[in-house]
Amino acid sequence: MGVDIDELAKRLETQVLEDAKEVFSETVIEYAYNPRNMGAIGDADGVGRVTGTCGDTVRIQIRVENGRISESRFMTDGCGTSIACGSMLTEMITDKTIEEALAITSDDLLRNLGGLPEENVHCSVLAVDTLRAAIDDYGSCVK
Ligand code: FES
Repeated sequence: MGVDIDELAKRLETQVLEDAKEVFSETVIEYAYNPRNMGAIGDADGVGRVTGTCGDTVRIQIRVENGRISESRFMTDGCGTSIACGSMLTEMITDKTIEEALAITSDDLLRNLGGLPEENVHCSVLAVDTLRAAIDDYGSCVK
């Protein structure tokens, strides 16, 4: 009897998704499976790259126009949660002034994501630390 690999893969994917739903909010799953603003900006105004205690690295690039973040992109070699965090955070900072973006905390990010399990909270801290590094880099370029 042959095994339908596609069918098997689909069943496996459904199972993984069902398991994830027991742990993560709908928003986290949506933002992890359908990332927003993932990728790179060719000539960004500020770049932050931070490696967290988990060993994963997140990069955030920002473009600033008239004192506001007009565009941002993130990349991560980390977990699915870090993809959800990068997606949500880059959405949150769009059209924000530098001061407003700097005021965003990991608690704000967690709130927008509908929370994270305790063991994944550090992923949101890593995302916010990376944003601050990108803003720092932008600040040192315009001084
Ligand atoms: Fe490293 Fe999530 S970013 S475990």
